[in-house]
Formats: sequence, structure tokens, C-alpha cells
Amino acid sequence: MKYLTMIAALAFAGSAMAVDCTDCHEKIDVAVHTEAEATLATCNDCHDMGSAHELDMELHMPDMSITECADCHE
Ligand code: HEC
Ligand code: HEC
Ligand code: HEC
Repeated sequence: MKYLTMIAALAFAGSAMAVDCTDCHEKIDVAVHTEAEATLATCNDCHDMGSAHELDMELHMPDMSITECADCHE
């Protein structure tokens, strides 16, 4: 399932590769973020992700939860 999702996304995005967040960040603490019920729509309540990263909204849905990120990102 994990790999099927990734392959589908990569096919959809052409040559785009999913970014490995841990290249630059601490590994996301999934427990903390699940408890906070974090979704893409709420990241910026606690972070300033919008000013550092631009998300391709054909790949990213506002209601995506933090556990779904790992389908494509480390
Ligand atoms: C090439 C390096 C790089 C990669 C890869 C990267 N980021 Fe970032 N990110 C940054 C920089 C630089 C900032 C702005 C400075 C800062 O706040 O640390 C930032 C800021 C953020 C912030 C806001 C931090 C805050 O507390 O305001 C979030 C959230 C974030 N990134 C999430 C991600 C996620 C999720 C991924 C993986 C999909 C990712 N980043 C991949 C470099 C990167
Ligand atoms: C309820 C507040 C809250 C929400 C909402 C939230 N976070 Fe966080 N996040 C935190 C806290 C607290 C930490 C741990 C402290 C830190 O490293 O800044 C953290 C840490 C992180 C880190 C590691 C920080 C680093 O620079 O290494 C990333 C990446 C991150 N969050 C991404 C996200 C993303 C993506 C979303 C939206 C899907 C999100 N967060 C939503 C509170 C939140
Ligand atoms: C279906 C696969 C998929 C899922 C699920 C997914 N992403 Fe991504 N994401 C990608 C791909 C592919 C890219 C890079 C290509 C692009 O942005 O066009 C990307 C890019 C990003 C970037 C931009 C990094 C940069 O270089 O600035 C951030 C931040 C990010 N994603 C965060 C998230 C977060 C947070 C979640 C979970 C809420 C998530 N993604 C879920 C596929 C995915």
C-alpha cells in the first residue's frame, strides 16, 4: 500500500521526487502530532511552514493527517 501510493504520486507528478524531511528536520514525532490531530490545514497554527515551503496542492489535501505524510515522506 505504502509503495503503491508513492508510485501513484510520482507518476502523477512526473519526475518529481518526494522530499525526505529528515534531511533538514528532526524526525516528526507522530504521537505528539496525532494527539494534536494535526492535518495540513492546521500545521500553521503551531508552525510557520507556509513561509518556508510551498506545497503542491495536487498532491496535498488540506485534510491529510500526519500519519499519511509517511506514505511518501521520511
Ligand atoms: C532542504 C532542507 C529542507 C527539507 C528537505 C525540508 N525542510 Fe522544512 N524547512 C526548511 C527550512 C530552511 C525551514 C525554515 C527555517 C526553520 O524554521 O527551521 C523549514 C521550515 C519548516 C517548517 C516550519 C518550522 C517552524 O517551526 O516554523 C515545517 C513544519 C517544515 N519545514 C516541514 C517540513 C516537512 C514536513 C518536510 C518534508 C516533506 C520538510 N520540511 C522538508 C528546510 C527543509
Ligand atoms: C498543536 C500544535 C502542532 C501542530 C498543529 C503541528 N505541530 Fe509540528 N510540532 C509541534 C511541536 C510541539 C513540535 C516539537 C517541538 C519542535 O521541534 O518545535 C513539533 C515538531 C515538528 C517538526 C520537527 C521540527 C524540526 O524543526 O525538526 C516537524 C517537521 C513538524 N512538527 C511538522 C508538522 C506538520 C507537517 C504539521 C501539520 C501536518 C504539524 N507539524 C502540526 C506542534 C505542532
Ligand atoms: C501522495 C504522496 C504524498 C503525500 C501523502 C504527502 N506528500 Fe508532501 N510531497 C510529495 C511530493 C512528490 C513532493 C515534492 C514534489 C512537489 O512538491 O511537487 C512533496 C513536497 C512536500 C513539501 C515541500 C518540500 C520542499 O521542498 O519545500 C512539504 C513541506 C511536504 N511535501 C509536506 C507534506 C506533509 C506535511 C504531508 C502530510 C500532511 C505530505 N507532504 C504528504 C508527496 C506527498
